[in-house]
Amino acid sequence: MTEELAQAWSQAAADYEEHFIDPYAADVRNPLWRALARIPRKKSKTVGDLGCGTGPLLPRLAREFGHVLAVDFAEGMLQRARARCRSLNNVTFHRLPLQNLQPLHGQLDVAVAINSLGLPHPAEIDQALRQIWHCLRPGGWLLGIVPAMDAIHYMTMLLVDRALQRGLPLDAARKNAAHHANHAEYDFAFSRFLYRGTEQHFWFGFEVPYRLRRAGFVRLRLAKVYIPWPQVTKLKDLDRFPPTWDWFFAARKSAHPKSAPLAQ
Ligand SMILES: C[S@@+](CC[C@H](N)C(=O)[O-])C[C@H]1O[C@@H](n2cnc3c(N)ncnc32)[C@H](O)[C@@H]1O
Repeated sequence: MTEELAQAWSQAAADYEEHFIDPYAADVRNPLWRALARIPRKKSKTVGDLGCGTGPLLPRLAREFGHVLAVDFAEGMLQRARARCRSLNNVTFHRLPLQNLQPLHGQLDVAVAINSLGLPHPAEIDQALRQIWHCLRPGGWLLGIVPAMDAIHYMTMLLVDRALQRGLPLDAARKNAAHHANHAEYDFAFSRFLYRGTEQHFWFGFEVPYRLRRAGFVRLRLAKVYIPWPQVTKLKDLDRFPPTWDWFFAARKSAHPKSAPLAQ
């Protein structure tokens, strides 16, 4: 299953930017930048970009940190990331699934996971979070972004109201909303997103502290990363409403050397 998923992600690498949202775009107010800025003495620290994809974050991490470990399970993604980082000498690449990061245990001061904690099986998400916990040194930071399922419900609500205001009866308004919000790609009951052979788990806000605590993380912080409407839909008339979002979180591994992950 993991190998199939890695292959599907590899195939998505070539034209990745055309199909996936970009949380690093200049018009996105991304809490990640502030969280990174708050980490002291970065030049003496090692950061892991876990699920680095084509590597859009790697050059910035390489400028700010002493060492960068770029991790992904999809060879196609790593190839693009390596090409992007050709001139950087403090980035190393590791083809590993997040569910087994044993070679990197104890090596990270900071772990960053941007839209890569979407494993379809909840037990594997828990496993990946525990593995990240083991990679971090005591007191280390985990900074992440996960796709938000509640944001899809929010957009659906706006789209139904939009269609009703245009005079459509309720059943047609619902069909119209389902079309514009691409409902065919989602399984809403179990928070799944199925797209181009990849399956991703989408998160609810309540799930973030629940899963992070189970994995042993402390000092959790949750915030929205608002994604400007043009990245999400071609429709112009949603512009007057706040846009949809992904979930950003920051958490820490306890500085206590004997702290342990909770869920096993
Ligand atoms: C949506 S992309 C995000 C890539 C990158 N972090 C970014 O912000 O552009 C998700 C990435 O996570 C990787 N990924 C997904 N699940 C993974 C897993 N279980 N182990 C390792 N990498 C994984 C995929 O191969 C893909 O490169």
